[in-house]
Amino acid sequence: MNKLRILGTTAFVIAASIVITSCKDKRSTGWEYAPNMYEHKAYEYDQPNNNFKDGKTAQVPPAGTIPLGFKRFDYPNTREGYDKASLEVKSILAQTPQHLAEGKALFITFCSPCHGVTGQGDGLVVQHGYPPPPSYSKGQSSRGGAMKDLTDGKIYHTITYGVNAMGSYASQVAPEERWKIVMYVHHLQNL
Ligand code: HEC
Repeated sequence: MNKLRILGTTAFVIAASIVITSCKDKRSTGWEYAPNMYEHKAYEYDQPNNNFKDGKTAQVPPAGTIPLGFKRFDYPNTREGYDKASLEVKSILAQTPQHLAEGKALFITFCSPCHGVTGQGDGLVVQHGYPPPPSYSKGQSSRGGAMKDLTDGKIYHTITYGVNAMGSYASQVAPEERWKIVMYVHHLQNL
């Protein structure tokens, strides 16, 4: 009985001292299970790194790198770029009622304030004195030709870069959304 008590007390003292000493140093991680799960062998992106000339782990991607699944639009914001896009760029979106409906919603949000809901160039800001864009179905493009003949590539180029009084929508409207809008503009060209 006495022996057991001594053993119990000893075990208690050892356990207590482990608990007390393990709490003493707040920065110590104590005993770790599989420490390489906490301390990586790989470099963290913000750590110095002697393997690279500039000594950084986070390297700038090489010029021309594009995210996975990203489709390039290599047509500059020039008259040549506009004409080239007109010849070479075609929409790859399927003609579905769903895409058209989404294009309509995007058009109403981003384009109708100037172009008007039916694309006649009579949007709300125009009614307040903004220079009116030409009607999609009846007007003439400032770059030549009838608005109703504007091609996929020309409309996409215009949304991407803007033209004169119209700004670029590249930062507001993602490429696939632009194609949905193009589909809806084609619909308005026939009104
Ligand atoms: C701030 C007003 C404004 C908004 C918003 C606007 N546009 Fe325009 N847009 C214009 C004006 C003004 C023109 C005529 C510019 C010119 O040719 O001088 C124009 C011209 C165009 C043309 C004719 C381009 C050409 O080659 O002649 C297209 C196509 C077009 N816009 C599409 C769009 C689409 C699609 C949107 C929405 C994503 C949009 N616009 C939003 C003002 C606007």
